[in-house]
Amino acid sequence: MNHPSMQGQRLNVPAYVKHAGLVAWVAEIAALTEPDDIYWCDGSQEEYDRLCAGLVASGVFKKLNPAKRANSFLACSDPSDVARVEDRTFICTERQEDAGPTNHWVAPAEMRALLQTGKADGTPGLFKGSMRGRTMYVVPFSMGPLGSHISHIGVELSDSAYVAVNMRMMTRMGKAVIDLLGTDGHFVPCVHSVGAPLQPGQADVRWPCNPTKYIVHYPATQEIWSYGSGYGGNALLGKKCFALRIASTMGRAQGWLAEHMLILGVTSPQGKKYHVAAAFPSACGKTNFSMLVPPAGYEGWKVTTVGEDIAWIKPGKDGRLYAINPEAGYFGVAPGTNEATNPNCLKMLDRDVIFTNVALTDDGDVWWEGLTDTPPAHLIDWQGKDWTPQIAKDTGAKAAHPNSRFTVSSTANPVLDPEWDNPDGVPIDAFLFGGRRSTTVPLVTEARNWTEGVYMASTMGSETTAAIAGQVGVVRRDPFAMIAFAGYNMSDYFQHWLDVGSKLAQGNAKLPRIYCVNWFRKGPDGKFIWPGYGENMRVLEWVVGRIEGKAQGAENAFGISPRYEDLNWNGLNFSKEQFARIIGMDHADWQQELKLHEELFTKLAYHLPAELGATKQRIAEKLAA
Ligand code: GTP
Ligand code: SPV
Ligand code: MN
Repeated sequence: MNHPSMQGQRLNVPAYVKHAGLVAWVAEIAALTEPDDIYWCDGSQEEYDRLCAGLVASGVFKKLNPAKRANSFLACSDPSDVARVEDRTFICTERQEDAGPTNHWVAPAEMRALLQTGKADGTPGLFKGSMRGRTMYVVPFSMGPLGSHISHIGVELSDSAYVAVNMRMMTRMGKAVIDLLGTDGHFVPCVHSVGAPLQPGQADVRWPCNPTKYIVHYPATQEIWSYGSGYGGNALLGKKCFALRIASTMGRAQGWLAEHMLILGVTSPQGKKYHVAAAFPSACGKTNFSMLVPPAGYEGWKVTTVGEDIAWIKPGKDGRLYAINPEAGYFGVAPGTNEATNPNCLKMLDRDVIFTNVALTDDGDVWWEGLTDTPPAHLIDWQGKDWTPQIAKDTGAKAAHPNSRFTVSSTANPVLDPEWDNPDGVPIDAFLFGGRRSTTVPLVTEARNWTEGVYMASTMGSETTAAIAGQVGVVRRDPFAMIAFAGYNMSDYFQHWLDVGSKLAQGNAKLPRIYCVNWFRKGPDGKFIWPGYGENMRVLEWVVGRIEGKAQGAENAFGISPRYEDLNWNGLNFSKEQFARIIGMDHADWQQELKLHEELFTKLAYHLPAELGATKQRIAEKLAA
């Protein structure tokens, strides 16, 4: 089934591919990017093992000691390619206001000239010949269970074998997806190049990438084009690019939600099960919360993981909201993970893991900051340099990059929810929104109604983390933890949330309750006051208690928060005074906070829903009272 335009280039289309449109598109991209070879991924274990062996042979992967981590690998990236590049991420709509003030925008025609067709002055498009000397992998994948009415299919063409093996872990990838596509099924085309073509005979580097990076989305045609990076969300295009940026535009048009949310099941000792979806910004605790171990004093409680990064949420026929996890694997933050903070995660990392940018121990295992109290006496750090505790003390060098990650299949999670791949999803009882705030924001506050909840989520602030290239620790507004992920105008996105709520309310459905949480208040010593991790169960229990109409709280200007006596302190030594420091709303802090809300609303004035301005007014009045 070779395409006439290929002019001698072999497409290598497997016999099982029946989709002429797919083949034509592969031919078109191959003609543009000029790879040496084309390889169609079937998703088999044999293929995964073969590609990993190839990555070991070419020096991209280091095979870890099988006695310590069976069938696991370490990849270390170029030091310039370690996190998502939000500055280089573009939403290319015809009208700039449709991308909105929170997205970077370039007109589609201009971007296509830049990337594909070349500019008027003769400068070729960046993708022209960008895969020379490399293999182009055809990676068919389903976001969500195969064939689910909530799922969608994508095909990523990538010149990175690292991307291909990661995609197998992160998505349902391979031949079954091609079968599902049939002769004319719809797929989202995703083109990815590390932007490092090789001249004949030129030796490759360990982590090819390009200082020029473009992460580009065309919502109108549902296309994704990514250039110059091989790392995480920049390159695994099913994740942020498709499942959030493109999917959010699909959801807006079709009446559903694509969110940066974990999904968990929580079962009480009485055997009642609830589902909670929670949006926290990047590196703010979704993976950890989704698989938390209830602490001592919580015998009989169980938390199970449906998803840990992304949720697709659709109204069901009964008027409730149902969520699926579109992913099939976790690309999780390594630093901070240990036996005390997240024992389930450590169990999950025993075998069959791809680690990226962690440190290598002398016996062929991995290490990262926070894994053990006492670091090993010697390591090879993520940049391949010798590392000792003394060197760290002298130079501040981290053994693992702060945004170092593991890739692992969700089926390795010891507390995976049995419903995790139910094609109909799980019904959501509560939404949590939480930023990383060392001051100001209380441990937990319940919104009194949907609009107030949308206000809380819209105005959320968070201190930036290493998941994003750029400055760490600065508070920025991160509405719904979607600042970098909404594929359309943020004010229209707020309106969409309000619309979904009022539509469900019209059907007399019980809307999920909405909460604002913050695990990250710090004391004058700079340390977290709240122990967090498993202890967040205490907040979760209060949320469940509120849903059941049992738990009490007190009103503040922002919503309803628990008093000391409203939380269960069984098994934890946490004083009333300590609690006051994480639940309190300081008047001056909140005057300042409301100014920041105002600043955000001014920026988002175009199409900003009037209800949000009115809610702000009410909060300001309560605060003044
Ligand atoms: P992304 O994958 O970037 O979307 O991140 P995430 O939201 O899944 O964050 P994750 O759970 O991986 O946590 C990020 C960092 O925050 C890790 O270093 C965790 O150890 C730390 N962390 C998670 N939960 C808590 C908590 O309750 N308290 C404190 N102090 N730190 C936490
Ligand atoms: C995030 O940054 O929110 C992540 C990691 O989950 S990445 O896949 O790189 O986007
Ligand atoms: Mn994330």
